[in-house]
Amino acid sequence: MSLGECLGSGGVGAVYKGMRGQAPVAVKILPQHSLDQEEQLARFQREAELLAGIKHSNIIQVLDFGHDCGVHFIVMEYFPGENLSGMLMREHRLSCFESIEIIRQVAMGMEATHNLGLIHRDLKPSNILYDRKNGLVKVIDFGLVRKAEEDHAITQEGYIVGVLIICLRSSARLCPWIAARIFIIWGSRFIK
Ligand SMILES: Nc1ncnc2c1ncn2[C@@H]1O[C@H](COP(=O)(O)OP(=O)(O)O)[C@@H](O)[C@H]1O
Ligand SMILES: [Mg+2]
Repeated sequence: MSLGECLGSGGVGAVYKGMRGQAPVAVKILPQHSLDQEEQLARFQREAELLAGIKHSNIIQVLDFGHDCGVHFIVMEYFPGENLSGMLMREHRLSCFESIEIIRQVAMGMEATHNLGLIHRDLKPSNILYDRKNGLVKVIDFGLVRKAEEDHAITQEGYIVGVLIICLRSSARLCPWIAARIFIIWGSRFIK
């Protein structure tokens, strides 16, 4: 496998475009300095193992993971989309139609995740890839994923409200009209 350009980096590691035979792949690599930090290494391994178990068209697919000569890596399908954070910075706002479709696909991906008893816990624009050419959305970055049964905090009211606020903030940046409606729909669900 050969590695090429850096596709992006965030809190955990850098993601490079690579070729595996004839197929393009994305390879996430844990930086050397994180190897000494037990928690970072454990999170990286957890991301690989739990994400590998999810097979859904709106969740990035893991093809392989492991370590070689001390380098820890996750090989994923390469997705030619752009992350929403970059897109929003450039375009400031997306159309209502695109926003609804993105939110719908993210929700489908989250449903599949939750059906396996997993919680993403880091859903934000930089962890959502969108390919405008074919209208497909993929959720990435499961670095903070947890099994629901292990995470008692998610059953607490404060946590739900926190997630609601984060989702609303993100969707407000996509389209304020949608954010208002999500608030009404979610709000009425909470009142029920
Ligand atoms: N499978 C992929 N295909 C294409 N680009 C990707 C892929 N995975 C990640 N990227 C790019 O790399 C960036 C960082 O990836 P991410 O998994 O969020 O890393 P971190 O855990 O460090 O935040 C993303 O915002 C995205 O631009
Ligand atoms: Mg990220």
